[in-house]
Amino acid sequence: MGVIDELPRVRLGVFPTPLVRARRLERVLGSGPLLVKRDDLAGFGVAGNKTRPLEFLLGAAGARGAEVLVTGGGPGSNFCAAAAMAAASAGLACELVIWGEPYSPNLALARAAGARIRPTGDTDRAAVDRLVLARAGELSAHGHPAYGVPRGGSTALGAVGFALAAAELAEQLGDQRWDERPLVVLAVGSGGSCAGLLAGLAAVGLDLPVLGVSVSRPPEEIGARVRRLARECAELLGTAEPAGRLEIVDARGPGFGTASALERDRARLALRTEGLLLDETYGAEAFSASVDRLAGGPVLFWHTGGLLPALNSRGADR
Ligand SMILES: Cc1ncc(COP(=O)(O)O)c(C=O)c1O
Repeated sequence: MGVIDELPRVRLGVFPTPLVRARRLERVLGSGPLLVKRDDLAGFGVAGNKTRPLEFLLGAAGARGAEVLVTGGGPGSNFCAAAAMAAASAGLACELVIWGEPYSPNLALARAAGARIRPTGDTDRAAVDRLVLARAGELSAHGHPAYGVPRGGSTALGAVGFALAAAELAEQLGDQRWDERPLVVLAVGSGGSCAGLLAGLAAVGLDLPVLGVSVSRPPEEIGARVRRLARECAELLGTAEPAGRLEIVDARGPGFGTASALERDRARLALRTEGLLLDETYGAEAFSASVDRLAGGPVLFWHTGGLLPALNSRGADR
């Protein structure tokens, strides 16, 4: 796909991730088909979907001779934990700029993987990306070449990982014949995954509608960001302009990291019926949106992972 093979890449995951039919859920819900793309099984710790961008971001860091990976996010960031593990596996040091209270199971994992945590001391999320780049510049100026990555790894290069996922999906869907094309549903945080998916679908000529379930930003804002990143990703790859159908729904509900009672109930149903473990920040919201859309035709729920929070949040024991 485009210039993808020429981009430096550090292999972390086990791909393709399985694409399965959730027949037990279909029976309980009384509708279907419901397909599940199991990026929770991406094979690199608990990184889930974030394994994909990290392969290319670490590749770029290595190609530039970086010794340190600097990134950041919120205290519960799945991406930060994944980045810490990925940096360790590539022999890089890792620094994480964290807003809010710097304690969570994910940050405990990041610390255990050797990351150094740099709390910002306030709750300003947007400031993190600026501070990440400033810290990377500071380290580089002091003789420790550093590669800065904004929150979620959501750059055009990070999105390349998910563009490849679209090609993977096209192959898996192969010759399956559908009366209707499945609606692809996935959680949207910083937008890189959805953007890469749009770019990849256009690149391989697979016309599937996409429903992005926004968990942290207003739909108009994240929709524009996703489209911009998708265009930038396609430009980087030299592939077709991503003009596919994208709808964004607002799933911010009770707040970032907290699922509504309905989303939590449905996550519990997925666990008990199909053994799918969904976190309260991304998975429960996206799965619930998938259930809402099942009456309208086949749905492909992209399980993006995020397993650690699921084991430690209220969703697992209530
Ligand atoms: C488990 C999980 N699912 C979905 C997302 C959303 O992906 P993106 O930030 O690329 O929109 C994230 C982001 O960190 C995540 O950790």
